[in-house]
Amino acid sequence: MHERVESLRVVGGTPLEGELSVLGAKNAALKHMVAALLAPGVHRLSNVPRILDVEIMGSVLRHVGATCERSGTTIEIVVPETPVPEAPLELVRQMRASILILGTLLSRTGEARVALPGGDDFGSRPIDLHLGGLEDLGAVFDLQHGVLRATAPNGLHGADVYLEFPSVGATENILLASVLAEGTTTIGNAAREPELADLAAYLTEMGADIEGAGTSTVTIRGVSELHPADHRVVPDRLEAGTYIVAGAMTAGHVTIRNCVPQHLRMEMSKLADTGATVTLGDDWITVDGPRRPEPIDFATLPFPGYHTDMHPQMVALLSVANGTSIATENVYAARFRYIGELNRMGADIHTDGQHIVIRGVDELSGCEVDGCDIRAAAALTIAALRADGTTTIVGAHHADRGYDGFVGNLQSLGAQIDRI
Ligand code: EPU
Repeated sequence: MHERVESLRVVGGTPLEGELSVLGAKNAALKHMVAALLAPGVHRLSNVPRILDVEIMGSVLRHVGATCERSGTTIEIVVPETPVPEAPLELVRQMRASILILGTLLSRTGEARVALPGGDDFGSRPIDLHLGGLEDLGAVFDLQHGVLRATAPNGLHGADVYLEFPSVGATENILLASVLAEGTTTIGNAAREPELADLAAYLTEMGADIEGAGTSTVTIRGVSELHPADHRVVPDRLEAGTYIVAGAMTAGHVTIRNCVPQHLRMEMSKLADTGATVTLGDDWITVDGPRRPEPIDFATLPFPGYHTDMHPQMVALLSVANGTSIATENVYAARFRYIGELNRMGADIHTDGQHIVIRGVDELSGCEVDGCDIRAAAALTIAALRADGTTTIVGAHHADRGYDGFVGNLQSLGAQIDRI
């Protein structure tokens, strides 16, 4: 028996026209779901996208004894007095964000057992910074048979943590572990991502005492308990940015609403350099795509730099630029698998270490490609929207992991896309 794999089929050549609203950020909602475990009772998260990763996180919550019910884009999480301190391999393997349960459950129950995480195939993705920071707070780790067991023999206490790299996940894990710890914690060289600031906002609504979230120094004064809260998840800048680049790629005219343009300053500024007309409003962005993009150079960096999760989409756009562009990937060691797939469509792209050299071609041509991760699937769809003929992107579930209503949204902008 072969597993049934859904694909996306795209017929290229139609300029996208119209407007869309985006929902809350995947990379915030997933963390908020874990954070809820810090306070027993009923939490409500709104603006939560209906995506596969949120479903998987719902299963993680149910495994630890919480309930998680969805009604439209709101989820209600009921957290028990004593969660089960364990996240199983079959769930963690599917989604790296489940590692955040480590700091959270350790803080709530004094113990956590977590299978080592999986996630997208971007080269090795260690968790040394998570573990180092939690050790500073008093955690002790023991790895046996692929399961990491954390305990805190003397409880968790405030510490001065300094991260070697502003890792998003490590900053979040330390934040989640420290809000209920004894004393004051500072996280230096912290990640500054808006999703992290939104996590801190939710924790503050739960009664936490946090200062500086969204800057590179976060100070957390431990409190003795937290209470449940309702929170609206910050808009998804990656969802908004992806549709904007899709509009630009097709020389279309697209407006994205309910987003925070300030969270996409760098990405939109680079897009404008390709010749697109980009207008930023209060909570909307409009793009008018150029007939043919101009080449640009860009390098990914932690926020407020160019987001690594917007890199494949921009490379797809530059694959048809009027000249040669260079992209440099600084966040992941190996986020290049999608490039071979773009080359199958006729792109002329090669990598040299962390650099990607993109020689613009006149035209891409449709064929079968593998949408190997969330942003790769998005980038290949963007390429397919301009390519000559039909492209089949195998692995529609990758797009479903990160984009609520991906196919329907693109159809509403006039794209010829369906699921097969
Ligand atoms: N790193 C280490 N040691 C650590 C932690 C990270 O070396 O202990 C390295 C990683 O290997 C990677 C870099 O630091 O090379 C960045 O990792 P980071 O911890 O910042 O990322 P993350 O928390 O694992 C989140 C998002 C990713 C996004 C990155 C960077 C979630 C669930 N995931 O991952 O999103 O690419 O931040 O902004 O929030 C996606 O949405 O498609 C996605 C992959």
